[in-house]
Amino acid sequence: MVSVLLIGNGAREHVIAETLGRSARRPSLYSWMQSNNPGIAAHSSETRLGNYGDLDGIVQFARTGKVDFAVVGPEDPLNRGVVDALLKAGIPSVGPTQSLARLETSKMFTRDLLEKYGIPGNPRFRTFVSKEGIREFIAEFSDGAVIKPDGLTGGKGVMVEGDHFQGADEALSICASILKKHGAVLVEEKLEGEEYSLQCFCDGKTVVPMPAVQDHKRRFAGDEGPNTGGMGSYSSSDHSLPFLRPGDIADGLAITERVADAIYRETGSLYKGIMYGGFMVTAAGVRLLEYNARFGDPEAMNVLPLIKTDFVDLCMALIDGTLASLSIEFEEKATVCKYVVPRGYGLPADNQDEGSTSARIAIGETSDVNIYYSSVDQREDGLYMTSSRALGVVGIAGDLETAEKLAEEAIASISGPVDHRSDIGTAALINRRIEHMKKIRG
Ligand code: AMP
Ligand code: GLY
Repeated sequence: MVSVLLIGNGAREHVIAETLGRSARRPSLYSWMQSNNPGIAAHSSETRLGNYGDLDGIVQFARTGKVDFAVVGPEDPLNRGVVDALLKAGIPSVGPTQSLARLETSKMFTRDLLEKYGIPGNPRFRTFVSKEGIREFIAEFSDGAVIKPDGLTGGKGVMVEGDHFQGADEALSICASILKKHGAVLVEEKLEGEEYSLQCFCDGKTVVPMPAVQDHKRRFAGDEGPNTGGMGSYSSSDHSLPFLRPGDIADGLAITERVADAIYRETGSLYKGIMYGGFMVTAAGVRLLEYNARFGDPEAMNVLPLIKTDFVDLCMALIDGTLASLSIEFEEKATVCKYVVPRGYGLPADNQDEGSTSARIAIGETSDVNIYYSSVDQREDGLYMTSSRALGVVGIAGDLETAEKLAEEAIASISGPVDHRSDIGTAALINRRIEHMKKIRG
C-alpha cells in the first residue's frame, strides 16, 4: 500500500491528485491545502487545511499518513523549504530542496548558472544592486529592455518595455522601486518571438520531456490586457506546437539537460522534481525566459491527463534516480485548457464587476471534458468563486479543433458572472502564432 502527501490546492494539484488516483497501486492520498479544494478532497483519504509555512504541521500530517513520498504542487512551499523539512523526517519528495528551488525563486541564480557553465539560452543581461549603470545598459538595447525582480512574484513581477513601461526614465523608476524592495534587479534585453513551456521530469541525472504547451498570460482575447497567472493553454497531438520546428524543442531540452547537470556540479545535489523551462523561439534561436521548479498551472492540465505510465511508479523512479530505465509515454492527443474566471479577475480593484469574484457558479451537464477546481469554495448551497481563477476546463481529442470545441461547449454550460478566453486553441489564434514565427524567421 502506497501513501502520498500532496501539497497544494489549485487546479494543478487537482490534476496531480487525479493522475495519482489513476495508478494501479491505488495510493492513499493525504492532501495539505490552504483552502478546501473539493476536487482534491474527492481523491483524498484525508485532507488537512493549513499554511504552506507550517512545516512542522506538514511533517506531522505526513507522519500520521505514513506517507512514502510527497508531491509538491506550488512554488511557495518549495521556497519555504518543505522538501528539506520532509527529508529530515525521512520522507522524499517530487520537488527540489529550498536551495535547488532557486532555479525558480532566483532568476539571477539561473542566469548566472547558464553563464558560468557556458549553457546557451541567456539573453544579454546584467544584475544591478544600485541604479548606477542601469541607464547606460538599457541604452544598449534598440528593441527595448525587460526588468525583473529576484524572487517569487506570482508570474506578475516582470516588466516588459512597450507593454508595461516606456523609455529609460520609467525604467529607472521601476528599477529603483525593485531595488528598494528586493535589493537587486535583473535587466535584460527584450526578446521577440513565440513562447512555449517545456515541462520535464528530472531525477538529477535523467531529464524526460513532457509534451510542449503554449500558455496565454494576458487576460483578454487577442493577448490584450494585464498579465495573469495564465488564462489557458494548448498542446498538439504530436507533442510539438504548430509554430515550432522540430529542432526548437530539442534545443529547449538540451538546455534543460545541461542545467540539471550544472545544478549538480554547482551544488553537489541532484535535482529531483519538475524542471519547467519557459522558452522563447527568436530569430536567433531558442532562448530561456525562466525556469519553474514545479508543474505549470495551467500546463499540468494539458500533459498529466495524457500520461500512460503509472504515475506512482514514475514518481518513485524520479525519487530513486531510475527515470532512465522507465518508459514514459503520453497519449498522442491534442488538449485545450481554458480557465473560467470571475469577470472581475485580473482587473484593477476599482474596475471590477461588483461582487463577481465571490459569486456562486453552477456547472451544467458536461461530457467529454475534464474539469479541475481552482479557487472555489464548496458550500452547502453550492459552488462559490474565491477571487481568482475558478475552473480549468480541458478538452482532449485527436486534433486541436475538436479539443477546443469540447472545452467551449462545456464552458457554455457554466452559469454565473464568469469569463474565459474564447480564442485559446482556435485556428485563428494559432495561425497568428505561425505567421508571427514566419515573419521573425524571415
Ligand atoms: P518570466 O516570469 O521570466 O517568465 O516572465 C514573464 C513573461 O515576461 C514571459 O512569459 C514573457 O512573456 C515576458 N518576458 C520575460 N523575459 C523576457 C525577455 N527577455 N524578453 C521578452 N519578454 C520577456
Ligand atoms: N503557466 C505559468 C506558470 O505556471 O508559472
